[in-house]
Amino acid sequence: MAAYLLLALAPTALGLEAPGGIGRLPAMGWNSWNAYHCDIDESKFLTAAKAMVSMGFYDLGYQYVNIDDCWQIKDRRDNVTGKLIPDTSKFSDGISGLANTVHDMGLKIGIYSSAGTLTCAGYEASIDHEEIDAATFAEWGIDFLKYDNCNIPSNWTDECSACTPDNSDSSLYVNGTCKDTTGQCPQGYDYSKSLTFERYKKMGDALAKQNRTILYNLCEWGTAEVWTWGAQVAQAWRSTGDISPDWSRIIQIINENSFYNNYADFYAHNDPDMLEVGNGNLTEAESRTHFAIWAIEKAPLIMGTDLTNLSQTNIDILQNKHLIAFNQDPVVSSPAQPYKGGVNPLWTFNATNPAEYWSGESSKGTIVAMMNTLGSTRTMRANWAEVPSLKGNGRYRVRDVWTERDLGCVSGGVSREVESHDTAVLLVTGGCGGQIGHGWGWGHGWGWGWKHGGW
Ligand SMILES: *[C@@H]1O[C@H](CO)[C@@H](O)[C@H](O)[C@H]1NC(C)=O
Ligand SMILES: *[C@@H]1O[C@H](CO)[C@@H](O)[C@H](O)[C@H]1NC(C)=O
Ligand SMILES: *[C@@H]1O[C@H](CO)[C@@H](O)[C@H](O)[C@H]1NC(C)=O
Ligand SMILES: *[C@@H]1O[C@H](CO)[C@@H](O)[C@H](O)[C@H]1NC(C)=O
Ligand SMILES: *[C@@H]1O[C@H](CO)[C@@H](O)[C@H](O)[C@H]1NC(C)=O
Ligand SMILES: *[C@@H]1O[C@H](CO)[C@@H](O)[C@H](O)[C@H]1NC(C)=O
Ligand SMILES: *[C@@H]1O[C@H](CO)[C@@H](O)[C@H](O)[C@H]1NC(C)=O
Repeated sequence: MAAYLLLALAPTALGLEAPGGIGRLPAMGWNSWNAYHCDIDESKFLTAAKAMVSMGFYDLGYQYVNIDDCWQIKDRRDNVTGKLIPDTSKFSDGISGLANTVHDMGLKIGIYSSAGTLTCAGYEASIDHEEIDAATFAEWGIDFLKYDNCNIPSNWTDECSACTPDNSDSSLYVNGTCKDTTGQCPQGYDYSKSLTFERYKKMGDALAKQNRTILYNLCEWGTAEVWTWGAQVAQAWRSTGDISPDWSRIIQIINENSFYNNYADFYAHNDPDMLEVGNGNLTEAESRTHFAIWAIEKAPLIMGTDLTNLSQTNIDILQNKHLIAFNQDPVVSSPAQPYKGGVNPLWTFNATNPAEYWSGESSKGTIVAMMNTLGSTRTMRANWAEVPSLKGNGRYRVRDVWTERDLGCVSGGVSREVESHDTAVLLVTGGCGGQIGHGWGWGHGWGWGWKHGGW
């Protein structure tokens, strides 16, 4: 029952409710950055939008087509209206023209700005222009804003900073406590008093005044302990620094974000950054882990690759219906949590070998995930007795979430061979009749060798 206990002790974090249920569940969609960075134009968004519909992503819940940085002309606003100016060499009908087309396809559209003077790529940004920019986005038909953290004016610098996870020296960061406290805010500091909070709240207030619901996704890189106040300002917040399409970064992010799951709720989503499935040199195993952990932590599922060039394996990963169902559960708001460390003790901050054993409840059953952070295949075992929501002594029906294989009714637990950097994911449900004695099935090889037809 440890998971219930943690939740009971956690701060109540039900997020900022947006009208019409917008943002209640993690957003699903596509964004241009991880695929194209600044090299964008309307054809890339139309291609992504068409692919989302024709490839079946839309039917599974992916609906946002999000424009990232570099959509404007540089160095000026409209000197009459004060509005941001779309680059019509990239967007021939402006942003509103693209928005109309995207809406006609049944999809939604997102845009990007920064809570600073310029965006990260050096385009005009929104600090001290929140009202006009929010009104402009609403007028264009925008449904989603990603709000970045570049080029902060000096008078907006926080008086002190939060402990930043140091992935190279984990001894500096133990569960949010810094060893080196130089420049750090004192223990117990209320980060909703920070100027960072203020910068992000200003845009939230401006969006709330518009006659249009715009989902608000903070992108302040997990500074100022945003998970403690993000839900007062927005429906989602970036909880870490930027992702890159390689295992070493993805596993660092999994480590960091694993400490913040108590703060997530409906309308309140940690965002460990957008998906890299299809990019870089991720193996199939690494892509499965990336998607599975994002899905069960109830992160926004925003794809960021050329959808038309995805391998069938990657399509299947991004379209896994059990993981999407967990992520989008309309009834249960809590994400999965690590229940056992594995290589390291539970709650060890470790950027290469974070917690490996995870579980979470959903209206369709309990999800159990076993992530192998080591460099070679090993046998991992899900013991029902260790999984907080299972009673330990029951028989449970088990389905392999990747292969759809029904493993039947299993007591004791399930052992699986898990490839290096892969994650085995099981959906565990009831429906197996009576309870049997605790520990029954131990040592009988239950679950062993399923790959070889053992079931
Ligand atoms: C407004 O911007 C346009 C385009 O750059 C420029 O030609 C014009 O002189 C500017 N007007 C004012 C009043 O600055
Ligand atoms: C920083 O300076 C700008 C421009 O003078 C001003 O609008 C803004 O309110 C200042 N910010 C703070 C936090 O004082
Ligand atoms: C570390 O954080 C986790 C998750 O918030 C919590 O359950 C655990 O008790 C913490 N451990 C310590 C030593 O503070
Ligand atoms: C808000 O939008 C609705 C529906 O589009 C419209 O009927 C209404 O007039 C708008 N109100 C304002 C104040 O613009
Ligand atoms: C994958 O890419 C990262 C970043 O470019 C690099 O550090 C790593 O060595 C690469 N791994 C493999 C197996 O090529
Ligand atoms: C398509 O994907 C393959 C790997 O699956 C990659 O090697 C190739 O560069 C991609 N092509 C484009 C145009 O992105
Ligand atoms: C992370 O954990 C592994 C396995 O226990 C250990 O070898 C490594 O030194 C740890 N990394 C750090 C930075 O402590």
